[in-house]
Amino acid sequence: MPETKGHIREMSFKDLNLVLEIENKCFKVPWTRSMFLSIMSTLNSRSIVYEIDKIIGYGIAILHKDTVHIANVAVRKEYRYQGIGSEILSYLLHFGVSLGKKKAVLEVRPSNLPAISLYEKFGFYKAGIEKRYYPDGEDAVIMEKEI
Ligand SMILES: CC(C)(COP(=O)(O)OP(=O)(O)OC[C@H]1O[C@@H](n2cnc3c(N)ncnc32)[C@H](O)[C@@H]1OP(=O)(O)O)[C@@H](O)C(=O)NCCC(=O)NCCS
Repeated sequence: MPETKGHIREMSFKDLNLVLEIENKCFKVPWTRSMFLSIMSTLNSRSIVYEIDKIIGYGIAILHKDTVHIANVAVRKEYRYQGIGSEILSYLLHFGVSLGKKKAVLEVRPSNLPAISLYEKFGFYKAGIEKRYYPDGEDAVIMEKEI
């Protein structure tokens, strides 16, 4: 796997234009600016960006009582398959562990095979299906992992 030489830092409101540019390219039903703003404004969340010279990807985790919810992970298309998604996910999981969380949970489209492969590589398993979870009617696979 090539070395990516990037770094992770906290996402700021000033990053949102670039983050939304990536979000809109990555997802069929992208999060809106107000969804990012509202999650970033809550104390129980962590939003980070992965930067090389510019923002290449980002990740968002939300803390619940015993779990960390991986709410969003995305990497610019031209930079995929170089380990960056793994670095972002690993950071968010360590964040959960550092705060004593016992489990990580997430939802993913059954059609999103790259993401499912990434999560399985990290030891996530399929824990259930949420029917018609996404706004376009696709189900979500619920994946979990003890951390
Ligand atoms: C899912 C995503 C974040 C992965 O990012 P990435 O930087 O390419 O991931 P990595 O390079 O760290 O890949 C890690 C593992 O994921 C899997 N993977 C990644 N891309 C894959 C692909 N196109 N096909 C199959 N498996 C893939 C592989 O298991 C890979 O491990 P390997 O390199 O040992 O084979 C990226 O594809 C993406 O941004 N997708 C669009 C947004 C999205 O769907 N986010 C997830 C929402 S639930």
